Amino acid sequence: MRKLCLCLFSLLLTISLFPLLLKAKDDDFVRQPPRRVIFTHHDRSDSDPQQVHISLVGKDHMKVSWVTDSKHCSSLVEYGKESGKYNAKANGEHTSYKYFFYTSGKIHHVTIGPLEPSTTYFYRCGGSGPEFSFKTPPSTLPLDFVVVGDLGQTEWTNSTLDHIQSIDYDVLILPGDLSYADTHQPLWDSFGRIVEPYASRRPWMVTEGNHEVEIFPIIYPTGFKAYNARWPMPYQESGSTSNLYYSFEVAGTHVIMLGSYVEFDADSDQYKWLQADLAKIDRKKTPWVVALLHAPWYNTNTAHQGEGETMRLAMEELLYNAQVDLVFQGHVHAYERFTRVYNNKADPCGPIYITIGDGGNREGLALSFEDPASPLSLYREPSFGHGRLKMVNETHAFWGWHRNNDSNFVVKDQVWLQSLSSSKTCSKSVDQKITSPSTKDEL
Ligand SMILES: [Fe+2]
Repeated sequence: MRKLCLCLFSLLLTISLFPLLLKAKDDDFVRQPPRRVIFTHHDRSDSDPQQVHISLVGKDHMKVSWVTDSKHCSSLVEYGKESGKYNAKANGEHTSYKYFFYTSGKIHHVTIGPLEPSTTYFYRCGGSGPEFSFKTPPSTLPLDFVVVGDLGQTEWTNSTLDHIQSIDYDVLILPGDLSYADTHQPLWDSFGRIVEPYASRRPWMVTEGNHEVEIFPIIYPTGFKAYNARWPMPYQESGSTSNLYYSFEVAGTHVIMLGSYVEFDADSDQYKWLQADLAKIDRKKTPWVVALLHAPWYNTNTAHQGEGETMRLAMEELLYNAQVDLVFQGHVHAYERFTRVYNNKADPCGPIYITIGDGGNREGLALSFEDPASPLSLYREPSFGHGRLKMVNETHAFWGWHRNNDSNFVVKDQVWLQSLSSSKTCSKSVDQKITSPSTKDEL
């Protein structure tokens, strides 16, 4: 009898574990817990540049940003196409800020150019210190974006950054949550140091998340003090009056950076700016339009449910009518890709929504998704990783999500996309509201 019971127990155990065993055979990836925060120390002299990063300005300029502990360093960048030979130079501006008992170093911002496309430049900041180099993006398609959100500064962040650097790209775009300093200002400096080897080589274009806000009632009521001082983006060039929302164009792509934590209703400056910006897009010049924002408009993870809903209700129609191709979202620490959506329904002329808040922050992964899955959600997985968007030509792009498998990465989700500007179904005037699309487009 006892033997029979044991046999029955073994049989039941095998049956119940069978799906798991199959999964193990199919994919032996073991999801790992959050990893520790890395505080990157300053090991250069007070006058040497640290936290160097670059960002695009207009069609052929680059902003070089860095910090010095010394207040006596000049905001000067020398640059040229040969290592050690700097035949051009530019001066810029500097700032610093206080946050309670913390005083930042001298934060320098210098715009250099005009620069040639697809060209490597060598540069030096402040007239001394180490040499850096960057490559400018191409002026025409193809173009390679890296997309990473909620980056933080942990061992997972390092893993993600190593994977990003292992394959070349042109521009990194980030939908919010950079340092996770959360008012502890030295962590902004540490973040600048951890990303410098990457952000000094390729332009990093960012928008803000909730971890950039850093509001303190009465004393710092408007927030974004560190973010605006350290990561100024080219907002004036797109007619914006705020560093918290802007757009830029690079090689056939119009990129819109929205602010989830500034006013967005129809009376707001951001809304009016977005309307004007969308109206200016020339799809012959930029056949692709991509938007980034932090709190997701579409999300089937149980984390942060509904947090982007008010903004979606306010602004989704604008993006839909302008035939925005893709919307990247952060905030949720997982990966999720939706089909083309408008107003909570599949729509061949709506944007594809992708959540990519899985860069490697200290808070860990958002492990729980709603069950059953919405038919709008095509792929979802709570793992750290990054995305790559290759704009191949005017009509087609290739998207891939790269999951961190510890020291390696694997491409777990990939899809070809067709630009809405080349879609026969959707090739109507952007002013003309599309009410009932009849045929199904490819993604
Ligand atoms: Fe967030």
